[in-house]
Amino acid sequence: MLNKEKFGSNFKWGTTICAFQNEGWANSDNKGQSIWDDFTSDAKNIKNNDAINNASNFYKDYEKDIRIASSLNLNTFRFSLSWTRIFPNGKGEINPEGVKFYHKVIDCCIENNLEPWITLYHWDLPKKLEELGGWTTRSIINWFSEYANFCSNEYGEKVKHWIVLNEPMSFTGLGYFMGYHAPGKTGISNFLKAAHHTALCNADGARIIRKNVKNAIIGTAFSCSYVKPINKSRLNKKSAQRVEVMLNRFYLEPTLGLGYPTDVMPGLNMINRYFKDGDLERLKFDFDFIGIQYYFRVVTKFSLFPPVLFASEIEPKKRTRNLNTMGLEVYPQGLSKVLQFYNQYDGIKNIIITESGVCYDDHLTNGKIYDIKRLRYHRRMLKEILKCKKKGINITGYFIWTLIDNFEWREGFEPRFGLVHNNFETQKRTIKYSGLWFRKFLRI
Ligand code: GAL
Repeated sequence: MLNKEKFGSNFKWGTTICAFQNEGWANSDNKGQSIWDDFTSDAKNIKNNDAINNASNFYKDYEKDIRIASSLNLNTFRFSLSWTRIFPNGKGEINPEGVKFYHKVIDCCIENNLEPWITLYHWDLPKKLEELGGWTTRSIINWFSEYANFCSNEYGEKVKHWIVLNEPMSFTGLGYFMGYHAPGKTGISNFLKAAHHTALCNADGARIIRKNVKNAIIGTAFSCSYVKPINKSRLNKKSAQRVEVMLNRFYLEPTLGLGYPTDVMPGLNMINRYFKDGDLERLKFDFDFIGIQYYFRVVTKFSLFPPVLFASEIEPKKRTRNLNTMGLEVYPQGLSKVLQFYNQYDGIKNIIITESGVCYDDHLTNGKIYDIKRLRYHRRMLKEILKCKKKGINITGYFIWTLIDNFEWREGFEPRFGLVHNNFETQKRTIKYSGLWFRKFLRI
């Protein structure tokens, strides 16, 4: 039986939202443009040519949404700051209206008994900084430090929980290697430069928060997957190890002081070109927790392309019917595998699931949404967590992705992940069955 008490009285129960995906009002109150505002301005980049418009209107509806989160009996609320609301040009001049907005969000969380958790960077780089090279230039370290310094000083009195980056592999891999996400850059050298600077900002940002915020609890959020070779042949097994390097180890190991994982992927040594004296040490930070975000399993086989990786993925639709709306495999039992994998590292003291969710087509029937498949998914994830806790893995929080259906990057509005349905035309919220279940489950 699932029972809230089994998770412990200090367990964090939250939802995660993201500035770009939720706020809307990208041109209001002196906000500057981000690379995602730019990328989505071309409808061809987005599935079904969806225009983001006002996303799910969090900029105006934040009170309503925070009250809904509180009514579900959650105890935390994770949101990201929009860099360009605060620094319209990415650096230099501050925008007081943007600064004020996040004070209002934080105060509203506190009034509603939700502990505010801030993510500093959830992918919406200022466009002005991208024009100067974005993550591929080492100057980003100064720009990011200025941003981290301002935000932690400004909000640190009220906010003690900080997440430096959201899924560095997603925004550098998709944005600077594959060109699939903003800013649409491609190629190994763009990727390696962006990756190294990102990893440095991850640790520097955390150091800045540590310096500025008394009693801060600092983490960073990594994407991860359960990776399996298609069969046990030596070549295929090795292909899975390399994919594991990219999906699960690449950003983690340098923060733990282990350097980049070049053991099974010597080609990655190319990243040394971008090193300066002292970088290996500078990449390290003793995080209070590691956030993990597990959505799907990946099955691999050996392949000559792409070079360095020498692996490709067997498309989920060719091997399973258990798919979400985005065509990714729904495989909650993989969570235990990744938790066990992370638990092998001595440097990880505390794991928090900082995002977890699934998208399905949801249909309103007589004003209600009976999203039983989503509920089953979350319940299964919770059971996997309990299994791991019994084995002694220190997992102290579960953040659902996401509170309200929102704008899913390149996939537009089609994938719905929320515990709460949104009608994007009227911005009307309807709590889904999964949300009502959490409300009951988390009742005091
Ligand atoms: C994560 C990302 C979120 C959200 C989610 C669902 O990788 O951090 O912003 O898009 O995936 O796909």
